[in-house]
Amino acid sequence: MPCHKVTDDVNLPDSVCRDTDEEAVLAVLRIDLRPGKARRSDQAGDAEVAHGFTQAGATGGMTSDKSPSHQTNNGDKALHKPEHMWQQIHWRLMPQTPVGRAIVSATQRLDDAGSSTPNLDAQVILAHVLQVERSWLFAHYDYELTQDEAERYSDAVARRAAAEPVAYIVGKKEFYGLELLVDRRVLAPRPETEMLVDAVLDWIERRPGRAVTVADIGTGSGAIALAVAANCPDVTVYATDVSQEALTVAASNIACLDARDQVRLVQGDLLASLPEKVDIIVANLPYIRSDDFPGLQADVRDYEPKLALEAGPEGLDLIERLLAQLPAYLKPGGAAFLEIGHDQREAVLALAERLLPGAHDVAVREDYHGRDRLLIIGF
Ligand SMILES: C[S@@+](CC[C@H](N)C(=O)[O-])C[C@H]1O[C@@H](n2cnc3c(N)ncnc32)[C@H](O)[C@@H]1O
Repeated sequence: MPCHKVTDDVNLPDSVCRDTDEEAVLAVLRIDLRPGKARRSDQAGDAEVAHGFTQAGATGGMTSDKSPSHQTNNGDKALHKPEHMWQQIHWRLMPQTPVGRAIVSATQRLDDAGSSTPNLDAQVILAHVLQVERSWLFAHYDYELTQDEAERYSDAVARRAAAEPVAYIVGKKEFYGLELLVDRRVLAPRPETEMLVDAVLDWIERRPGRAVTVADIGTGSGAIALAVAANCPDVTVYATDVSQEALTVAASNIACLDARDQVRLVQGDLLASLPEKVDIIVANLPYIRSDDFPGLQADVRDYEPKLALEAGPEGLDLIERLLAQLPAYLKPGGAAFLEIGHDQREAVLALAERLLPGAHDVAVREDYHGRDRLLIIGF
């Protein structure tokens, strides 16, 4: 059967119909021409039609690193889309599409939309829709989607094509072996932040027998606090955030994952509301420069909380204030572990030297990709 298109003399890109061979119907594609709606009114030549997505659609790349090094890399396809595109493409799967074909078609759709991981996205989203493990898909390529499943998969793929992070679509993100609930109220925890947890656990391990108190500043989903607690039965962790919305998400995760009741939530600005001095302060605070924010990838810039990302002209507003507060909130012999941007080494070392004359050990550690990532301060 043919690929269904409702068009007004639009030449479709070849890729749109790639799946429509004689054996199966995979997708219904509709293109709405709405020059008055998404098009800028100051542009002449309304008849111009280009292939791609509306401005409300996929305009950016889709990796999720909040590191500045990835901020402006939107991927070639997305970068080269003219600003005035105003078509809307509706990709819909037909009921009874087999799993294997559904993944192929969704992958193509997401690839066209600019995802850097279209196949993985298509699989993870389908596994979520079907409420199965991803591995189940590979053993059930012939399973035919019901109408409801095809609808929900089509809707979810459309969200991804509009640059929404997969973590928000499926409502969860794995971090340090824990499955955390996430939504737009919190940053989706990043794999590189696991390095912060490694460093904290390493510090604790070197001091056996000591009852350790940790503060995770800017806890977001609670990722770092919960990972530390899960791996150290005797540790108490204060998880703080200035955002009440973030703390609501963290509270849900604590309810599910804090089996030993080790994590205490505290709302407040940086260290101000900590109820006591602690041994370790760990923080993945915002560190994006204000000027870099508009150039962030669309899935980060348009979906994740700005409060979790931007930190003033040099991206150091929060880190600088935190460093200044450290001596008042750390116990003697304590330590601080801060995630930093890959190009902030010199700046944070200078700040530490100026603000923390009492620190005896200040170092920047690289991540597993060889990029500066972690500021460690020992007292
Ligand atoms: C980059 S996110 C990190 C979230 C989480 N720790 C993680 O690694 O996934 C930064 C967090 O800092 C919080 N934040 C921003 N400004 C803050 C402040 N002045 N005091 C405390 N938390 C703050 C944000 O609400 C956000 O949850």
